[in-house]
Amino acid sequence: MAATREHFGSRLGFILAAAGSAVGIGNLVAFPVAATKSGGGAFLLVYAVFVLFICLPIMMAELALGRTTEKDPVGAYRQLSGGSRAWRIPGWMALITPFMIAVFYLVLTVWILGYLIEVLSGNLNQLTNEAYFGQFINSKLIFVYLVLVMLLTNSVLAMGVKDGIERAAKALMPMLFVMLLGLVIFVLTRENSELGLKYYLLPDFAKLNAEVISKAMSQAFFSLSLGMGIMITYGSYLKKREAIPGAAKAVALTDTLVAFTAGLLILPSIFHFNPQIDTSTLSESSASMIFLFLPKIFLSLQGSIGYFGASAVAATFFFLVLIAALTSLISIVEVPLAALCDERGLSRKKAIYIVGVLQVILAGACAVSFGMVDWLTHFIHIAGSEKGFFELVEIVFYDTILPLNGLLVCLFVIYKWKRVNFNKALSQGDSSFSGSLSQKYVNFSLGTFIPVILLLVFLNTVALKFFGHSLI
Ligand code: PFF
Repeated sequence: MAATREHFGSRLGFILAAAGSAVGIGNLVAFPVAATKSGGGAFLLVYAVFVLFICLPIMMAELALGRTTEKDPVGAYRQLSGGSRAWRIPGWMALITPFMIAVFYLVLTVWILGYLIEVLSGNLNQLTNEAYFGQFINSKLIFVYLVLVMLLTNSVLAMGVKDGIERAAKALMPMLFVMLLGLVIFVLTRENSELGLKYYLLPDFAKLNAEVISKAMSQAFFSLSLGMGIMITYGSYLKKREAIPGAAKAVALTDTLVAFTAGLLILPSIFHFNPQIDTSTLSESSASMIFLFLPKIFLSLQGSIGYFGASAVAATFFFLVLIAALTSLISIVEVPLAALCDERGLSRKKAIYIVGVLQVILAGACAVSFGMVDWLTHFIHIAGSEKGFFELVEIVFYDTILPLNGLLVCLFVIYKWKRVNFNKALSQGDSSFSGSLSQKYVNFSLGTFIPVILLLVFLNTVALKFFGHSLI
């Protein structure tokens, strides 16, 4: 007889933990830059529509799968697949994908921790030298920080769902909100910040094309931590009496608000730094924004608030990103842990050691693929260009497989598990859902156009990333 499953202690605890997963590096940097380059308010509008009408139903489906089975993704698909071996494959994909994304995300988190420590050591000016980034990511210090990030993440996970994940989210998420608001207020009082606001918020509908729309879709999907088995796993810790639709809405709203608010920080800072900036030159890559561009912006604040003040702002920002990254990392590492405990009957402690060792090895391989180890740096040729191991993991798991996993969730829930069962799961804890317009919409959309959209995003990514041609 299996032990009873651990649950989140409260609805708020669940919402903060799931929002902690959803709020990540993607929200704080990638979203504001993508919005600015892709039509400002027009992009925000399209993004909001995607969150509400496409991502929210998928989040409900993932949470329902987890809550009903009280299992990790592999167990959830197995239990509901009625003996079909083929339908177990998406369960495995929803385990391998987060495992590999965690590896890639670990490296980014390690760099963020490293930059925070540099700023705290008084070295902000050094970070503005672009060559420094290359030196930093190829230094041996990376391994020390890797161990530190692993220790931070796993010591939270070792305490379990309620005392570890939930407690950390309850402490860290309010801190994140306060720091973000504090930074926004500070930045909005700077000269020329209104130019950034204008750029960010004024809609330019002429910029909306198929590519921008596909970008908004991928960003929304990724930002809500979908397709990564996370919501299935977190759903498995949600008490039966809690309402899934309401909780999913709260998570999506929090995530979107944080992304939106981050834009109120990033764009005004950029325009304070350079009021004449050509936004088309801004890099869309979160990494180059965080590590190459933002340090220059922070340092430029020394004119008005001195070097110490500029370093304090930079440290607050890096600390904020570190918290966002850690809470996301915690959620994603929980997926393989849950799988080992549920499927193999391992203790949590043993699972943490196994997953931890494997991830240190793979994250180490990613970290040295920027020049430190030759064969990992020149790992593979894809679409006519050479990619390192880190880039390969990013392309395969981050860019390509996520929408495919989302597509499989929709098809599984509607056509294999069946609508009646899905509706029953969503109505548990929320009797008003049954027969509502939301129910009709969720049922219809998940069985029709949402999988079609995800299929198109998937095919386009494959064409673009592996063959070098966009279909749109
Ligand atoms: N929503 C997260 C983000 O915006 O960064 C997505 C995520 C990525 C969650 C990586 C968890 C993770 F490990």
